[in-house]
Amino acid sequence: MSISKFRTTIGSRFYDALRGNSLPLFRTIDRGQTATLVRELRRNLSGHPTLQVDRPPRRPRVSRLQAAELATQSTMSRRVPIEPQRVDAPLTQSATFLVLTITDSPKAVKTIRSTLAGLDGLAKNVAIRDLNASFACTVGIGSKAWDLITKLPRPAELHPFPEVKGDVHTAVSTPGDLLFHIRSERRDLCFEFERQLMNLLGDSVKVVDETVGFRYFDVRDLLGFVDGTANPVGPAVPASILVAEEDSSAVGGSYIVIQKYVHNLQAWNTLKAEQQEAIIGRTKIDNIELDDADPGQQQSHKSLATIEDEDGVEHDILRDNMPFGSASAGEFGTYFIGYSRRLWVIEKMLQRMFVGEPRGLHDRILDFSTPLTGTTFFAPSASLLASLDSD
Ligand code: HEM
Repeated sequence: MSISKFRTTIGSRFYDALRGNSLPLFRTIDRGQTATLVRELRRNLSGHPTLQVDRPPRRPRVSRLQAAELATQSTMSRRVPIEPQRVDAPLTQSATFLVLTITDSPKAVKTIRSTLAGLDGLAKNVAIRDLNASFACTVGIGSKAWDLITKLPRPAELHPFPEVKGDVHTAVSTPGDLLFHIRSERRDLCFEFERQLMNLLGDSVKVVDETVGFRYFDVRDLLGFVDGTANPVGPAVPASILVAEEDSSAVGGSYIVIQKYVHNLQAWNTLKAEQQEAIIGRTKIDNIELDDADPGQQQSHKSLATIEDEDGVEHDILRDNMPFGSASAGEFGTYFIGYSRRLWVIEKMLQRMFVGEPRGLHDRILDFSTPLTGTTFFAPSASLLASLDSD
């Protein structure tokens, strides 16, 4: 390949970097890999068989493709903060779930609108301090607050969380106008963001609940099971969580349901591992999915939370549950958060869990876990959020 054709193919910035004019693209990858990549690609450009033939590489060589891919990925992920309202932001070590209601302070709505419109800038203030910490914030708006804050048509399915009453257990419905789902690898970044946010919101809001979650071993909940395995991946993520053409006023947004569960760990730990596995529907140590029970028999949590529509199409949701609690206070919990393109999917999961399928055979996870809260929100697209302050 001629040099000019090669330059056109790879782009002039990249070419200049390879020529040694500058190396900004490679700053974030390992020096050894950078040197190998640059040497290999320069050799291609020059047409010479090799440079520095007498010095063997100190590390095993990565293929040129692998190295170029690595360079692109690491440069892309570390150059800029995560965009606002990315519901599919990475799983992180820490998260804060902040639920607020609007007060009747005369300036409340105006203050909230301008704070939400500026959320992108607020998140950037914090995220830029450590781009490797994957800082992200998603805000959800409750149905009562939607009209007040956005003054826009309400997303078609948005309504308050409906209490679900089974024969034994109840999914309670609790207040909440705003939800901030704040995530980062670093606890201090979550804290700092929340500090700046609360400063701006001032007396326009009242805190209903603030829960700080932490990552527990290999993504386990406090019941000891790996939690989140069946989440969608790749193109199935936006297809499952983002509203599309079916509702033009809500495009690019996502329904959110939260429930704060506390566990009776003492009772749970009296069960044998096989009994716990039958309740969850997966093995405990190696996380292997168990077969569904026969129809009419007690179903596992995993089976009850699997939703098919009348055409047999399965509908996924995206969960980012987090353990929380305090060993000294004897509090052990799971903060459930589910994002979905269709609210009815999560509501059907709750029906099957609390009422049972068939009725009476409720999810046995509930014999050891009690929801203290239950609230529904809608996370609008970033562009809708940014437009809130425009009038
Ligand atoms: C005490 C609270 C909860 C705990 C500890 C919990 C834990 C788990 C665990 C360990 C799994 C299996 C691994 C996985 O695929 O993630 C699972 C699956 C799942 N859970 Fe939960 N969960 C809780 C509440 C909920 C609630 C309230 C919902 C929905 C309203 C839900 C929806 C799901 C779904 C959709 C799956 C995947 C099912 C499949 O295999 O397709 N979970 N959960």
